[in-house]
Amino acid sequence: MQALHSKKIAVSCQGITKTFGEGANSVQALQGIDLEVMVGELLMLVGPSGCGKTTLISVIAGILDRTEGSCIVFDEDMQGMDTSRRTRFRGENIGFVFQAYNLLPTLTALENVAVPLLILGRPRKQALIRAREVLGQLQFDNRMMLSLPKDLSGGQQQRVALGRAVVHKPRLIVCDEPTSALDHVTGLKVMELLRGVALQEERALVVVTHDARIFNFADRIARMDDGRIKSFEQNGVNHDS
Ligand SMILES: Nc1ncnc2c1ncn2[C@@H]1O[C@H](COP(=O)(O)OP(=O)(O)OP(=O)(O)O)[C@@H](O)[C@H]1O
Ligand SMILES: [Mg+2]
Repeated sequence: MQALHSKKIAVSCQGITKTFGEGANSVQALQGIDLEVMVGELLMLVGPSGCGKTTLISVIAGILDRTEGSCIVFDEDMQGMDTSRRTRFRGENIGFVFQAYNLLPTLTALENVAVPLLILGRPRKQALIRAREVLGQLQFDNRMMLSLPKDLSGGQQQRVALGRAVVHKPRLIVCDEPTSALDHVTGLKVMELLRGVALQEERALVVVTHDARIFNFADRIARMDDGRIKSFEQNGVNHDS
């Protein structure tokens, strides 16, 4: 493994709980999560359906407010920010791949990937050049780049969502099941891209997955069950060769 890991902390969660709803119908999706993610680290979160994986990464990414506990991302607590500051902080620092892709249906693949750069105020031409570069790394040809999401396969849409998460080089990339719709070879290529982003550019990645074929891309695996992290495993497998 390349020895590029610094000791800087990207994400620090302490005692996070999240309760949806109230009273008899409430669901305690997170029941006390302590977690640190280091800069340069790829952490995978695994566990059975409904155990709280999406809820946890949504709290980390500032999409969802926690009920209790603290969550510091690059020295900032997004929950204490007003909406515009939080949106700006997220836009500059966090890339998120949603489980359901959440692509904009009226924009082409290329335009979807360019969106984070346009939001950050980059000139359109420059944004499209960078989006083209990222989609090329994700094995997209010109026709696919100019297609609307509805004309792409599930796996192609998933790669657009990945491109959109990394295009602006955010310091934290959070992915919910990034390889679930991909065949084995494409899944490995996508993980190589993500791993390269984490190692070479000193970013932090949190990847939720059920896909055992990609476990050896992780530095650490956190196993969740019933709203808690049950164990951490250090991954000794070298995947950089
Ligand atoms: N918006 C919501 N309102 C009410 N309950 C919710 C909401 N979102 C999630 N939950 C509940 O919280 C628990 C954790 O859900 P979560 O989506 O985090 O699970 P998950 O581990 O991501 O599952 P999967 O692997 O199926 O995606 C589940 O019991 C779910 O029903
Ligand atoms: Mg989920």
